[in-house]
Amino acid sequence: MTSPFQPGRGLIAPLMILAAAAALTATVASAQNLDAGKSPEKLFADGCATCHRSPRGLAKGRFSLTLSWFLKDHYATSSDSAKALAAYLESVDAPPPRAAAKPSAKPSKSAPRPPKSVQSH
Ligand code: HEC
Repeated sequence: MTSPFQPGRGLIAPLMILAAAAALTATVASAQNLDAGKSPEKLFADGCATCHRSPRGLAKGRFSLTLSWFLKDHYATSSDSAKALAAYLESVDAPPPRAAAKPSAKPSKSAPRPPKSVQSH
């Protein structure tokens, strides 16, 4: 039983190689990063807090990609810590400025939900 048409076979090997290459590249990249052990909070406190008192408002709704480019460009951080910092800046930037003006009396969303649906990522 030989079928001349096997669309699946030819694709799997290149895909495996690609995946392996991607995994390898990621490992090497993070191995070279001297700041890898530091949390973005620490990176900010060490390198940025001198001039920027607070990480808030720095992301200004930028895309994390352009933000990490900016950080790499201006502050010569490694691409990994730039990415981490960008994500960090975005995460603290998330609440809209209006939230700061209001007193934080807003209770956390406490809609009745079965505990099953709560997932920590
Ligand atoms: C030597 C002082 C100094 C340090 C240290 C510094 N910054 Fe800045 N940063 C500035 C100044 C001044 C500006 C505004 C000028 C500009 O946009 O280039 C700025 C702008 C920025 C912006 C853009 C904000 C905007 O208004 O568009 C971001 C994001 C930022 N900094 C993040 C960081 C991060 C993250 C670090 C730590 C890795 C850091 N900065 C360290 C002085 C500093």
